[in-house]
Amino acid sequence: MQKVNKFLPLSKPTLSEETIEDVVKVLRSGWLATGPMTQRFEEMLTEYFRGRTAMCFTSATAGLQAALMSIGVGEGDEVITTSMTFAATANVIAMLGAKPVFVDIERDTYNIDPNKISNACTSRTKAIMPVHYAGLSVNLDPIYEIAQRKNIRVIEDAAHAIGSGYKGRRIGTFGDIQVFSFHPIKNMTSGEGGCVVSNSKNEQRFLNLQRFHGIDRSIWDRFSKNASCYYDVVYPGSKSNMSDIQSVIGIHQLQEVERLNARRRELADRYREAFAGMSDKISVQGIPAYDFVHSGHLFPICILDESKKDDLMMFLKENSIGSVPYYTPVHLFSYYKDTFGYKEGDLENTEYVGKRIMCIPLYSALENHEQDYIIDTVKKFFI
Ligand SMILES: Cc1ncc(COP(=O)(O)O)c(C=O)c1O
Repeated sequence: MQKVNKFLPLSKPTLSEETIEDVVKVLRSGWLATGPMTQRFEEMLTEYFRGRTAMCFTSATAGLQAALMSIGVGEGDEVITTSMTFAATANVIAMLGAKPVFVDIERDTYNIDPNKISNACTSRTKAIMPVHYAGLSVNLDPIYEIAQRKNIRVIEDAAHAIGSGYKGRRIGTFGDIQVFSFHPIKNMTSGEGGCVVSNSKNEQRFLNLQRFHGIDRSIWDRFSKNASCYYDVVYPGSKSNMSDIQSVIGIHQLQEVERLNARRRELADRYREAFAGMSDKISVQGIPAYDFVHSGHLFPICILDESKKDDLMMFLKENSIGSVPYYTPVHLFSYYKDTFGYKEGDLENTEYVGKRIMCIPLYSALENHEQDYIIDTVKKFFI
């Protein structure tokens, strides 16, 4: 085994020298807030999503919340989602006074089980919010079919899914609303940030008001040379607009993301191959029958003997390898138990997976010999 002399984190961004130089240019430009770079980044994203409008926010969390508000989710409503996700997915629902209704996942793909959604719908259901977990696209056709039948909307939490595909189409190029994250752990970053993709002019207008104080003009408009600096406030909006410092990073990353994702997928295939002979100890994310493209955001593994998961994570740490238990099912966090009455035993597959799941390093700059070291260390643990 080739020696690795540094800590191998779960993830890290790959930023080019040109990116760093262009950030410095923005810093020297005198305009740091939302401005020409953000306008350019949004145009590029809109092109990437085949003409569907992309609007940048300070985070996917802010974007998800604004998206829910844009379709009228509020007090007393219900939104169907998965518990195998980061807390943000459910928090944004709860923050609006609505109830996250958790539907169980498929035990092999770790994605929401579309067959269990219909039964969870009530007269209060306003939306379905599936998560493309780890970058594996959810089986969307049956979900959109249910949404259409019940006259409710779909907001895809696509935080992991930049570059993912479903039945020959890129996630974000079809459907209702998609929300992507550009947090530094993600496949592409803008430092922090996210974007909401939607086709509806009404939703876009609301998103624009929500992200900037309910002012119905962009800040860039107001400060450019020939514009009037007066404005009107038409809604008590929030403040979650992206800065040009973030956007210039995003502009570079978006041009790189397909190449970076290809490398992630290559590494994921190497993991799959390496663990293929250990199916009595480790299971990897299942491959659905439909055509899909995985973004390669995370590489989750399930440790079949659940009592060994924490020991393996500790062993990896002792050997300078990062790992995380993504995710602890959200319905088992105190707030969700105390507020909505969720309890152990509610979601069989989510809890089975939650006890066993952990993610190991996956990022485009990970070198083959570093990955071999990770694989060998995992194997060593089980010997
Ligand atoms: C599934 C999921 N949804 C939403 C978010 C929130 O993203 P952000 O950190 O950009 O707010 C994350 C972040 O990790 C996530 O993993």
